[in-house]
Amino acid sequence: MGYVIRGGRADDVEAIVDLGKRFGLQMRPESSWGQRDAISLVIERAGGDLCGAFIAWRLADEMEVHDIVVDDPERRSGLGRQLMERALEVARVWGCRAILLEVGSRNQEARNFYQRLGFQQVGERKNYYANGDSALLLRQEL
Ligand SMILES: CC(C)(COP(=O)(O)OP(=O)(O)OC[C@H]1O[C@@H](n2cnc3c(N)ncnc32)[C@H](O)[C@@H]1OP(=O)(O)O)[C@@H](O)C(=O)NCCC(=O)NCCS
Repeated sequence: MGYVIRGGRADDVEAIVDLGKRFGLQMRPESSWGQRDAISLVIERAGGDLCGAFIAWRLADEMEVHDIVVDDPERRSGLGRQLMERALEVARVWGCRAILLEVGSRNQEARNFYQRLGFQQVGERKNYYANGDSALLLRQEL
């Protein structure tokens, strides 16, 4: 099946929020619309509905990833990697020296994904989430 990766738009907000909720993510895409220092991407299925989303911000000379999600049927087909590769291109254009993010210590799926993409753990915030899980701080130098 064909997929299109494109920039997020105002009329994607509801679909992105719903997609995030299904996987326990509180996505706030509207906060990034039209912002010079933000990037939002979505993945569109051939039929037009969304099966992936990505939101990140620039903070000084670093890109901070807020959210990345790929819907269940599309997992492990390389789409998450493609979202991150697009983001890395933007980070380089922005002149960022690193890309940073937080991941739940028990989110093994995402931890494997980030490790495979070359992220390294640089810190940990204990009891960070409401359920008591730690947040691991991951970083990749560009
Ligand atoms: C994390 C997530 C975005 C990965 O998306 P994806 O499209 O499935 O990832 P890809 O297919 O691009 O995977 C790239 C590589 O990462 C690794 N990987 C991804 N998911 C993995 C898993 N469940 N187990 C082990 N390795 C995994 C693999 O090495 C994979 O390459 P391979 O399939 O050739 O072996 C997806 O699992 C997701 O949406 N999870 C729920 C939301 C979430 O937790 N987001 C992160 C919040 S911090």
